Amino acid sequence: MAIRLFDFLTGLSGALDLISPEVVGHHKRVAYAAVRLARTLNLPRSERTDLYLAGLMHDVGGFSVQSRLAALQFETDGALHAELGFRLLRKNPLLEGVAPIVRHHHTPFTRVEALPEARDGQQRKLFLAGVLCLADRLDALLLRSGRKDRLSPQEVMARLRTLSGSMFDPRAVEALSELAGAERFWADLTSSDPTRALTDAPDMFEDRDMSHAQLMAASTAFSQIIDFRSRFTATHTHGVAETAVCLAEKAGFDAPELDQMRLAGNLHDLGKLAVPSEIVEKPGPLDEREKHVMRRHPELTRAILGAVPGLEQVSRWASEHHEQPGGQGYPLGLSGRELSLGSRILAAADVFTALREDRPYRPGMSREDTMRVLDRMSGHNALDPLVVSLVHGHHGEINDRRQIAQTMAAAEFREFYSSLPQAEVM
Ligand SMILES: [Fe+2]
Ligand SMILES: [Fe+2]
Ligand SMILES: [Fe+2]
Repeated sequence: MAIRLFDFLTGLSGALDLISPEVVGHHKRVAYAAVRLARTLNLPRSERTDLYLAGLMHDVGGFSVQSRLAALQFETDGALHAELGFRLLRKNPLLEGVAPIVRHHHTPFTRVEALPEARDGQQRKLFLAGVLCLADRLDALLLRSGRKDRLSPQEVMARLRTLSGSMFDPRAVEALSELAGAERFWADLTSSDPTRALTDAPDMFEDRDMSHAQLMAASTAFSQIIDFRSRFTATHTHGVAETAVCLAEKAGFDAPELDQMRLAGNLHDLGKLAVPSEIVEKPGPLDEREKHVMRRHPELTRAILGAVPGLEQVSRWASEHHEQPGGQGYPLGLSGRELSLGSRILAAADVFTALREDRPYRPGMSREDTMRVLDRMSGHNALDPLVVSLVHGHHGEINDRRQIAQTMAAAEFREFYSSLPQAEVM
């Protein structure tokens, strides 16, 4: 599976915008501005690359906080989302280098010197965080002014300049002043996808095919973003991915297909980032409007994954996990041969995991009850009978692996939220 690093992360950054429709494109615009600033500052390619990735991911922690924060008001959460973003990325082999940049993208310039990182040989990362901070506030001002009283580029610049030396690193502000003279900069920035203007310049940063480990690491980061939003389902994605891979093994999938299944499992509920927490966490049954919102998530998963070259198969499996062989599923109502075995496996893995996993408000279902539900669904053509027979044949192994995966994910979840002000996160 050859996937380009930038295709993957640029595509998936679109998922981060789902949470708040009024800030669509924020991550891409910030990534664009940060890289242009880096170029103007003559930063080496490795640092431009770090800034691009940090720009694409910088508000990632905002999705882990229960209350839905609009990205533009993120500063009012005491930069909690920056800390959570750091925690999400710091152990990720692909993104650990950008974690400190994300952590400090709201830290004022005047406070940087006193940070422990400033004495830890991480001064460069802090400088890059300062560049990102300016790129982020630039977009915030532009967006904010985009609604009613639109600010001209000159007015935006004037506001940012007044904060030079206090909020912003003067070197970054100076570079922005230089950039601001070019009309092209503002035109690119306000275009529908500014990152396209960057890929025209091939030496802008280091693009490369992702290694297997990087791809898995990046998809795990996104699965945590999905899961950690709600303590009710904090380990669900990990359980589904493990169950689906185990079933695919039993069905004779080869190694590259098993990798694709792991990705599809990790990313299947990506579109749920667009579903408000109040609905995700609602204790009772959903009303019609809420159901409608909830049922859009597979479509959104398809829209995001389908746009990444090389992920076509993954996108199909992932976005068809609520389809049913009898045609009564959603969103497309596919049936019969329209549904591949991979999609049927993921659908069964999703149901199996949902039934067997413990939730804070109820223990998981017993083996016997779970199998009764699966048999009934298979009888109604709501699940593939062949896949259900695989669950029967290998129940012990499948369930053990699911449980181990979810236990490990639960430990990560606890560590993630440890020593944070409780009132703010849960
Ligand atoms: Fe932020
Ligand atoms: Fe931001
Ligand atoms: Fe789902």
